[in-house]
Amino acid sequence: MKKKHCFLLAILAGILHFGCSRPAEPVHLIPQPVKLEYTRGVHTLSNHIQVRFTGDEPGMQGVAEYLHGLLKSAGFKVSVESISQGTNARRGIILATDREMGRPEGYLLEITPRAIRITGGSLQGVFYGIQSLRQMLPPEIEDPAAAAGIASIDLPCLKIEDYPAFEYRGMHLDVARHFFPLDFIKKYIDLMALHKMNNFHWHLTEDQGWRIEIKKYPLLTEVGAWRSETLIGHGGRPPFEFDGEPYGGYYTQDEIREVLAYAAERFVNVIPEIEMPGHATAALAAYPQLGCTGGPYEVITRWGVFHDVFCAGNEEVFGFLEDVLTEVAELFPSPFIHIGGDECPKTRWSDCPKCQARINEEGLADEYELQSYFIRRMENFLLGLDRNIIGWDEILEGGLAPNATVMSWRGTEGGIEAAQMGQNAIMTPVSHCYFDYYQSDPETQPLAIGGYTTLEKVYSYNPVPEELSREEARHILGAQGNVWTEYMKTPSHVEYMAYPRAIALAEVVWSPVETRDYEDFLDRLRMHSRRLDAMKVNYYSGNLEEDAGGQTNNQP
Ligand code: ACM
Ligand code: ZN
Repeated sequence: MKKKHCFLLAILAGILHFGCSRPAEPVHLIPQPVKLEYTRGVHTLSNHIQVRFTGDEPGMQGVAEYLHGLLKSAGFKVSVESISQGTNARRGIILATDREMGRPEGYLLEITPRAIRITGGSLQGVFYGIQSLRQMLPPEIEDPAAAAGIASIDLPCLKIEDYPAFEYRGMHLDVARHFFPLDFIKKYIDLMALHKMNNFHWHLTEDQGWRIEIKKYPLLTEVGAWRSETLIGHGGRPPFEFDGEPYGGYYTQDEIREVLAYAAERFVNVIPEIEMPGHATAALAAYPQLGCTGGPYEVITRWGVFHDVFCAGNEEVFGFLEDVLTEVAELFPSPFIHIGGDECPKTRWSDCPKCQARINEEGLADEYELQSYFIRRMENFLLGLDRNIIGWDEILEGGLAPNATVMSWRGTEGGIEAAQMGQNAIMTPVSHCYFDYYQSDPETQPLAIGGYTTLEKVYSYNPVPEELSREEARHILGAQGNVWTEYMKTPSHVEYMAYPRAIALAEVVWSPVETRDYEDFLDRLRMHSRRLDAMKVNYYSGNLEEDAGGQTNNQP
């Protein structure tokens, strides 16, 4: 039966059975849950709310406190108490886990007139049940100043059974081309959590800036985090015009720990990316002996792919990168570390005696095998620290490192090739997952890198390529939206480009492919946009304005 019909019946049943109780509004969840069924009655939340959780699950208190925080922002008085496993609590919001569920990220959410029960396959599942509940509460709860006036909230009684289609549900952010403050990084993570996304890929190093403090190499941030000026306009070819303004910034290790704690509370894993062997000019500007020519180098002030890369014939380079990755691995608990690997020109290596000597000593066929040698060495080192690498799909060239996960970006071919070799892949093809591309007619939009990827196109994406067998398809871990920031100078511009496309992708990676319905998604998104407004997210609204033909007045 169609959801709307279920809902009408539920209202009717509510009126018949609870004569005078007001029917509650239907819920609008994104991503769409696997199963949602309305049942009889209404649950009224009002002062004061008891959150009860089973006490012997480590970490449950933190999840209960998180829910407490949400409800408190609504202006409710909330008490949190631990109850022993097996206690038959009948009232309040009851949080529990059931490992037997077999889906650690899954949850059951049941709302009855007396109680709201969230049972997760793990704490993460409980957390996602809470995110669904959060989306049922009035948008004003996201804005404590506006929430003060909420006296009570009526929720429809219902049962939700839910779990994700893909285990990897990611968003990426380039903080190197432009640098973004800590508060914004947290907001970006909170928005991910709201949509049940679980991996934040933090692109921390680039030609135009090194953004992570490394204690052993202070010049990386003293020198490498700053550029003398920045290109104006798109700047495809010379003559280039620059703004003359020094620009930069970086995150201290303490600040990174603060972000990691915030992300952990929201079950978002943070994957740091340290780019190698290419996109490394900022590091070379700080330590020129790590390049093939010895420099001098400058932190780059425009956009593109640059010839100076880490020298693959110099042992000092490997020692340096191992030191950097050691500090990175000490900071980040992520089981994956991203080592880049994309867009590494081989010009300097072809002319470099050290690189050529390495090719000879190692019996490598060419510079592509030299890149593969480089990546395999870094993989081996990281395996020793109990971490796996992710690399952009160029790491397939010259031979794939045996435990690497491939991030397929130039298309889907890299992902297909990896999966057919029995290795894992994450899909981020430019065609559907690059949120730096135009999302509407470029004439109406602020300057972007190019491309054209509408919300509907993102929504239509299926991360599993048709070419794969069922067995091979198991290696597709999921998908990720990429936000490269050459043309985004402010948080508000990042939000404009990433949202709502990130929300379409969140549904792609969470909801069963059979439930995909773009018109229904747009209806839910229109309701959901009130929450984004309360959270002060500057999403692009052109898709939501009826008959706007993609036009919108909002801008970064
Ligand atoms: C990339 O967009 N260069 C991974
Ligand atoms: Zn070299």
